[in-house]
Amino acid sequence: MKYLRHTLLILMLVASVTLEAKPKVRILATGGTIAGIAGSSTSSIYTAGQVGVQTLLAAVPQIQELAEVSGEQFANMASQDMTDAIWLRLAKRINHLLEEEDYDAVVVTHGTDTMEETAYFLNLTVKSDKPVILVGSMRPSNSLSADGPINLYNAVAAAISPDSRGMGVLCCMNDKLLDAKTVIKTHTIDSDTFEGGPSGIIGYVHNSRAYYLQEPLNKHTEDSEFDISDLDELPKVGIVYGYANASPLPMQAFVDAGFDGIVLAGVGDGNFHKDVFEVAVKAQQKGIQIVRSSRCPTGPTCLDGEVDDARYHFVASLDLNPQKARILLMLALTRTRDWQQIQQYFKEY
Ligand code: SIN
Repeated sequence: MKYLRHTLLILMLVASVTLEAKPKVRILATGGTIAGIAGSSTSSIYTAGQVGVQTLLAAVPQIQELAEVSGEQFANMASQDMTDAIWLRLAKRINHLLEEEDYDAVVVTHGTDTMEETAYFLNLTVKSDKPVILVGSMRPSNSLSADGPINLYNAVAAAISPDSRGMGVLCCMNDKLLDAKTVIKTHTIDSDTFEGGPSGIIGYVHNSRAYYLQEPLNKHTEDSEFDISDLDELPKVGIVYGYANASPLPMQAFVDAGFDGIVLAGVGDGNFHKDVFEVAVKAQQKGIQIVRSSRCPTGPTCLDGEVDDARYHFVASLDLNPQKARILLMLALTRTRDWQQIQQYFKEY
């Protein structure tokens, strides 16, 4: 009898330790196609950001075996409507959950259209080495073969992996793990739309486990010097697209509207049309920072290459595409107006 009682006690202890040992993961739902509803299971006509976080969780009961997963409806929108103000709230919320509420990881469900931008913003503003993983889907939640449930399952599997600590903010899509700096959406409708650019994916998820192939090279999260904890808004930065016969009007409009910085999605190696260049030189002289980036999907925008950046005090975006260059420029402008310091940030982040 005494032996039985001891055995029972040990079993109960083991059971409770096993239960306690489950990592705590918070899902912050923001909308997107993963929460979208189509007219029918075979239709591609749908509205993003329709179903709530509890419905997303109910579609993947298996994630509760991986971790103690709880959901929070942070927003429910199509990600083309993302704003700087929402990013600030999101970064603060994640910092709070990881620092004050003792969560082990955060997974953000998000539309795929601007997922790479949100990931990069969080990569520079979350102050923790705990995993933060963005996930979405290309097919709405009620589609035949919806990709949301497996993507969400994989994101939680990656979020609880000790190997994911210190990797910065990641995206998890179609079994791939992609790092915030290099991830790009490459295709408008393909469910395998996310790529890591020339450096490739950072890892993958298979059979509920994350496997890493490389580490991010640039500064992020804990090492980032950008602090948004007291900010309610960000400096205003716009993007101007380059093309043959380009009009200088969009850049002039940003100048007239009092923007703090302008990113050029230039042609080739970040080149301007001559009429746009003239406006850019005058804007820089007025203290509006110009960053040259490229509309080419891959390859760096080189410093002092085809454009004499040192002469005009322009900044070259290097490996950042225009939409991520906008984010780094906004954060850089919260700290300095010095173009050389801003160029240094583009080398480091
Ligand atoms: C969105 O970005 O909200 C819509 C598109 C998607 O999630 O795939």
